[in-house]
Amino acid sequence: MTFLAANLQLTIPQTVALMGGHTVGRASRSESGYQGVWKGRADTFSTGYYVSLLSLPWHNDVSSFNGKAVNQWSVPRRPGGGGGGGPAPGGGGAADAIMLNSDMQVRMN
Ligand code: HEM
Repeated sequence: MTFLAANLQLTIPQTVALMGGHTVGRASRSESGYQGVWKGRADTFSTGYYVSLLSLPWHNDVSSFNGKAVNQWSVPRRPGGGGGGGPAPGGGGAADAIMLNSDMQVRMN
């Protein structure tokens, strides 16, 4: 947050709004090493990104891909099967829901 604020001259509210860009799209192993979607549907605009960011029990999830540590956040699967953590209100939360450190900065600040 402070990095973006200092280097792009953004206010905190502007930074939070900008990170809402992650309400669309997904991350894929082949592109970035990260894997998953930020909310239930990757092709619609909604408040789901923020709802899921604030409401789900995110856990740090470090994996290895191509010999590189991949540091992302996921929602632990519920005991007894079921999709990981979801669904959250507002369409947030998918079986392969993720957040990146940059997203979690919005939650933690
Ligand atoms: C510090 C800030 C940010 C970081 C670290 C970051 C990081 C990432 C990463 C790692 C991916 C996954 C790429 C892939 O695997 O294909 C991604 C995807 C994406 N990001 Fe960001 N991002 C940031 C800010 C933003 C902002 C400000 C926007 C828009 C306003 C944005 C919009 C998107 C979109 C739309 C995708 C999905 C692309 C696709 O579906 O192929 N991101 N971002």
